[in-house]
Amino acid sequence: MADTPRPLVAGNWKMNGLRGSAAELTKIMSGAPEVAARADLMVCPPTTLLATFASLVQGTPVTVGAQDCHAEPSGAFTGDLSAEMLADSGAVAVIVGHSERRQYHRETDVEVNAKARAAWRAGLTAIVCVGETKDERESEKTLDVVHQQTQTSLPDGANAKNLVVAYEPVWAIGTGLTPTPADVAAVHGFIRRHLETRYGAAGNDIRILYGGSVKPSNAVELLHVPNVDGALVGGASLKADDFLGIARAYLA
Ligand code: PGA
Repeated sequence: MADTPRPLVAGNWKMNGLRGSAAELTKIMSGAPEVAARADLMVCPPTTLLATFASLVQGTPVTVGAQDCHAEPSGAFTGDLSAEMLADSGAVAVIVGHSERRQYHRETDVEVNAKARAAWRAGLTAIVCVGETKDERESEKTLDVVHQQTQTSLPDGANAKNLVVAYEPVWAIGTGLTPTPADVAAVHGFIRRHLETRYGAAGNDIRILYGGSVKPSNAVELLHVPNVDGALVGGASLKADDFLGIARAYLA
């Protein structure tokens, strides 16, 4: 059997967290050594906390990532942040194309592709999100949608170091609903074949995370599905106990 990639459990804090939340990060850091033997741990706080969190995690198995970036390295883009700025703040990765960005900021696959390339330019890993809406799932368009998103959002030249793909069904995000393990296996297998066709042997090592209502009680079931190489966790990543509880699925 081919080696599977080392799992990554990443917490997407979204627009949550003030300076006091460093206490939660400290708790995550204290539980991290136990799971670090089996999985990588990453926290993606709001950008206001990025530099603080990056200095706090130094020397621990936890890394920090950002939640979005602009495609340009600098310029007249009021309110935006470049991948270089995120790297300068201590991020090692950036999430791009999250469905909330696609939905509320009308981001297209072409823009997501440019953001992923910007991440690479700055030396960051791009965590590119894809996933179908409820309507698309119900009209059996899931694989078509995921195909279109991976085809266009993922840049050429990806490898296991610079790319992580996150499959996040939009209807499963923040709803408590999850696809069945069989449905997750079908989509992750489909993405794996795309990565292998597109990037050759490197495609085998690129991590494909599952995201959408992952919690400690469903983590073992979801994270042991073939081609699921970790989780992108929203709500449950805000509490250290829940986040670590999810990562402990790899100790089971
Ligand atoms: P959730 O969010 O775990 O709260 O469903 C996942 C995500 O949006 O990345």
